[in-house]
Amino acid sequence: MNLFDVYPLFNITPVRAKDCQVYDEHGTEYLDLYGGHAVISIGHAHPHYAEMLKNQIDAIGFYSNSVQNPLQQELADKLGEQSCLDNYKLFLCNSGAEANENALKVASFHTGRAKVLYLERAFHGRTSAAVAVTDNPKVVAPVNKTDYMVRIAFDDEQALTQQLETGEFCALIVEGIQGVGGIHEPSHSFLKLARKLCTETGTVLILDEIQSGYGRSGMFFAHQHAGIRPDIVSMAKGMGNGFPIGGILLDEQFEAWHGMLGTTFGGNHLACAAGIAVLDVLKSEDLIAHADRIGKAWIPLLESLPGVKEVRGRGLMLGVELDRPAGPVRKQLLDQHRIFTGSSSQPNVIRLLPPLTLTMEQVMQFQAAAQAVLEGEKVS
Ligand SMILES: Cc1ncc(COP(=O)(O)O)c(C=O)c1O
Repeated sequence: MNLFDVYPLFNITPVRAKDCQVYDEHGTEYLDLYGGHAVISIGHAHPHYAEMLKNQIDAIGFYSNSVQNPLQQELADKLGEQSCLDNYKLFLCNSGAEANENALKVASFHTGRAKVLYLERAFHGRTSAAVAVTDNPKVVAPVNKTDYMVRIAFDDEQALTQQLETGEFCALIVEGIQGVGGIHEPSHSFLKLARKLCTETGTVLILDEIQSGYGRSGMFFAHQHAGIRPDIVSMAKGMGNGFPIGGILLDEQFEAWHGMLGTTFGGNHLACAAGIAVLDVLKSEDLIAHADRIGKAWIPLLESLPGVKEVRGRGLMLGVELDRPAGPVRKQLLDQHRIFTGSSSQPNVIRLLPPLTLTMEQVMQFQAAAQAVLEGEKVS
């Protein structure tokens, strides 16, 4: 049987990984500045993470959500403490799209409304409601299109005001920092206005922190740089360091009833063990402050590279906009210098999403390689 060919593959077969490095079957080492798609937060194969998962599978890997699972509460307590959002409630699921799907559903039940406002270039996932608020023609099929979902230009405060003041929207959904769209951070003034208007019009403010959360921006969640308090926060990716887990944080105003949300696998024992291990390591190794420091030191270095037009983002979620297509540059970085980077829906942008453990030495390894590639080194 053939695989359904939906992924543009790197011609590399990783068989082992450690911290920020990935190794193929020949033992060749690669520097992972892609974080396995913004997923690896605490580094590949972290010993505490590996031990927690091994112990958990030996004890109990899975039982259904119809019984008590104290690991869910432990995860919620640690997440509340570290994110400073301890007065929210947690619902656990399996992926980013599912988190947004649940966030939109809660917002719709809560308000009794069906319209959702979203931004230009947004990416919120591939399931039905999440994809309907995604601005990317490659993933939105005709069946996903509905007049209920309204798009406005990025950071357009006038359009935001005009739409929200109709009072027709159940939710506004915004990424803390747009990822797939090419690393664009909404301005703090836009986010503050969004908060104010959502409160005035009874609209639920959903912050999608699936890519920008879990410390990647140098704070636990990227919206915290703007000092706003969302009604719902969605998360996934870095939450499990590769083990599938997602979730939403819901402000205390929301009421639940049995059966309103649910999932077979969400919040299972193994997923919780992974989630707890990630939070343990983020704290014990102070990785969020580290990501902030490395990001601040890296941005001016990236800006000094030849052919770089703009560097966007924060912490270890950076977008480098080039004066040329990023594809061939990324290929050369991989083929010649053994460095993984990420693409985006903007063809000139390289996305850098490494594990939060990245060192300055590894930053300098990338700098030397990028300098050579951008200066037009000969391909061997
Ligand atoms: C901001 C954002 N939201 C949602 C998603 C969807 O997450 P998943 O692929 O886990 O469904 C992604 C994935 O890239 C994302 O970056």
